[in-house]
Amino acid sequence: MGNWQKNGWRTKPRVQMPDYQDADALQAVEAELSSYPPLVFAGEARRLKAELGAASRGEAFLLQGGDCAESFAEFRADPIRDTFKVMLQMAMVLTYGAKVPVVKVGRMAGQFAKPRSAPTEVKDGVELPSYRGDIINELDFTSAARIPDPAKMLRAYTQAAGTLNLLRAFSTGGFADVHHVHSWTLGFTDRDEAEKYRDMANRIQDSIDFMSAAGLTGETNHELSTVDFYTSHEALLLEYEEALTRIDSTSGKWLAGSGHMIWIGDRTRQPDGAHVEFARGVLNPIGLKCGPTTTAEDLKVLMAKLNPENEAGRLTLIARFGAGTVAEHLPRLIRTVQEEGANVVWSCDPMHGNTIKSSSGYKTRPFDSVLREVQEFFQVHNAEGTIPGGVHFEMTGQDVTECTGGVRAVTDEDLSDRYHTACDPRLNASQSLELAFLVAEELSARRTNGSAAAAV
Ligand code: PEP
Ligand code: CO
Repeated sequence: MGNWQKNGWRTKPRVQMPDYQDADALQAVEAELSSYPPLVFAGEARRLKAELGAASRGEAFLLQGGDCAESFAEFRADPIRDTFKVMLQMAMVLTYGAKVPVVKVGRMAGQFAKPRSAPTEVKDGVELPSYRGDIINELDFTSAARIPDPAKMLRAYTQAAGTLNLLRAFSTGGFADVHHVHSWTLGFTDRDEAEKYRDMANRIQDSIDFMSAAGLTGETNHELSTVDFYTSHEALLLEYEEALTRIDSTSGKWLAGSGHMIWIGDRTRQPDGAHVEFARGVLNPIGLKCGPTTTAEDLKVLMAKLNPENEAGRLTLIARFGAGTVAEHLPRLIRTVQEEGANVVWSCDPMHGNTIKSSSGYKTRPFDSVLREVQEFFQVHNAEGTIPGGVHFEMTGQDVTECTGGVRAVTDEDLSDRYHTACDPRLNASQSLELAFLVAEELSARRTNGSAAAAV
């Protein structure tokens, strides 16, 4: 990255970023943030990259999830703990199905800035700038609330630091101990009629009981009482990202200090744009959303820019096409990757192509479509002989009613009960676990079929 500079993105066309009105205030915030410690360290980002490298070879599986948008109002210990807990439960289910380590990455501790489909929003004849996430402006529908305020970056940093601190404590302080899995799965199976998953949950519990009885779990066993948990977010607000970018003294390379993994969204992946320019120069693992409009030609250029050395684990391609259209789009992109001999992790985001407006007026996602897109993703990889390396989704540990369906059947009419998201509809804890069971089934079917990938 000889000619790369952390402010080089400023000369490139930018989209989806706010126009701050007060340049002095913006500069003051950037100077302040630049003096703060980074949130993550280069050694951690490198370790995640190595683990994602394993996922690219089918030797690990990526589980990436969390809020669509973190919010300042929801900054409390309980939601963080509950999301972390559901991620661990899902990881346990996936480990059982895949029989490989699960790489756990939260959309947490920095997932504040949002791309929007329209720059303005109209309500009752009043037009205001769109809400762009708590790091930029406010959700309230008033013109004052929608003015981008650079000082919000400082608050986002503080919240990210507090969230990460708690995640680090949960990861090593006993909470992640495999012993606790009992209470985790019981809640799900007791309440639901999910017969086909009950058996798997029981077998997981049996294995844990056995390990426990044999004295293989607990505080003395480091592997089972602690967990590696990483953070990620969309690197959308580049002033924030640049201010937290630091040189890694060990390697002399640049690190995005805002989170372990960052990704480029479907709306900001222009090969000559500001977001790609920023991401190409940092050493972190990079995610790249691939949607229906991603062309093979663009993907080729993007892979060359973002992973010129073809490092395993550097680039995760996050497919988000929408149920019913995966077979139309994914094969051509898989073939491009194969032709280029590129090392990538293929991950499936079954959320962003499946957003609809419900009859009750809420933005929702039918859980059936979410499951169907995951199944289609696996089918295409099985047919192409390539490796489905992970899943990426929006979820919360809270018992929300934002996506319809699932074994506890959230209906259109239920959406208004507990619809709390600041942006897109998330899976609740029960739906997240159900998704994990489905993915585990797909993974274990691949194993028992002798892995379609290995044959080609
Ligand atoms: C997101 O992940 O929240 C998002 C906006 O996704 P996409 O860029 O794929 O639409
Ligand atoms: Co979203």
